[in-house]
Amino acid sequence: MPRNPRRPLWPWVLLLLLPPLPGTLGHRSPAGPGEAAEEPGSGTAWPAFQDLQEQLRAAVALSRRYWALFSCRVWPATCGQDGKSPLGKTPLAWSLPLLGQQYLDILTTWYCSFQDCCASGDCRISNNLTGLQSDLSLRLHGQHLARELVLTTVRDYLALTQPDKVLALSFHGWSGTGKNFVAQMLAENLYRDGLRSDCVQVFTTMLHFPHPRLVDLYKEQLLEQVRKTQEGCHQTLFVFDEAEKLHPALLEALGSHLERRAPENHGAGAPRTIFLFLCNLGGDAINEVVLELFRAGRPREEVAMGHLEPRLQAELAASTDSGFGHSRLVTENLIDLFVPFLPLEYRHVRLCARDAFLSRGLPHTEETLDEIARMMVYVPKEEQRFSSQGCKSIAQRISYFLP
Ligand SMILES: *[C@@H]1O[C@H](CO)[C@@H](O)[C@H](O)[C@H]1NC(C)=O
Repeated sequence: MPRNPRRPLWPWVLLLLLPPLPGTLGHRSPAGPGEAAEEPGSGTAWPAFQDLQEQLRAAVALSRRYWALFSCRVWPATCGQDGKSPLGKTPLAWSLPLLGQQYLDILTTWYCSFQDCCASGDCRISNNLTGLQSDLSLRLHGQHLARELVLTTVRDYLALTQPDKVLALSFHGWSGTGKNFVAQMLAENLYRDGLRSDCVQVFTTMLHFPHPRLVDLYKEQLLEQVRKTQEGCHQTLFVFDEAEKLHPALLEALGSHLERRAPENHGAGAPRTIFLFLCNLGGDAINEVVLELFRAGRPREEVAMGHLEPRLQAELAASTDSGFGHSRLVTENLIDLFVPFLPLEYRHVRLCARDAFLSRGLPHTEETLDEIARMMVYVPKEEQRFSSQGCKSIAQRISYFLP
């Protein structure tokens, strides 16, 4: 296949697209004052996009073939169900010359790299609640409360057309019980790129804000990052890992984001924001409650929010080495929901080990699962009921058992 013929077609195809795209991809057209005044927020993307769609339609006369194929790629919803383009009876598989197909690929990739090619208007946001439900019920073990609470709360929040507040959830429990795991599931099911999405930010206290003396700088950076993320994305997720170690000044600063928005600042276009605080604080109280119920012969699945909430609140209020329980977030009820993560038992650790083998496509035996589960330390001394590390580092432990 000769290489040279590539060049002449490229500019021609680009010509179809460039005029209606002010300010994108280094294309600095001498835009009129009206265009220049437009702010780059997500609110303006859609009209520009529709505008472009109109322009492309106008260009159809030039190249029906290219348009039909391109539009089917970029806006699949406008394509016929049988894979035919809306403009002609040409099936999608209809063959362009090989070279033309390549141009089409390049063009589509280029276009979608700065514009959204989804019916929802923003491909970065997937909001797959079916996927979330399936992950929570199949991959999260031993957390009947968290599973139910997280799903219903997030589902209800995303269904709001005019959210007047961010959704703030705090996850409490010992390490290894699944708090990070659920945060990851949320990111993966609500955003196409999961934790790497532009719309998702994860802050780990000891990593991002390690030095108390720099707290003023951190505060500025944090607020700036929250603002920028919200500006670039209509639905955002912020995860604060090790929230119990957050400096009181940072918690204070976040408080203003969790407050109810003033009525003039919400409406149909109000952004959706979810804040997750992952916190070891309260884990002891949760474990005590679960242990008491276990000693009283009650099955684990009977543990209810009513048993846990007062004790969890009491532990937060009594904590002295953490600012979280005394911050505005808690004292002014800015957290919408406290989600308890229960201590895991031997059988749950076994399931985590099984998942780790399955996810790597490796074979395992029941004996191996028992061996791995036996490697964990169980507390308290008398009953040896709860894994002190939950399912933490199970994925690494399975490497000892590989053939
Ligand atoms: C949602 O998630 C489920 C389960 O992970 C998956 O099978 C399905 O394809 C996803 N749906 C979309 C629209 O991505």
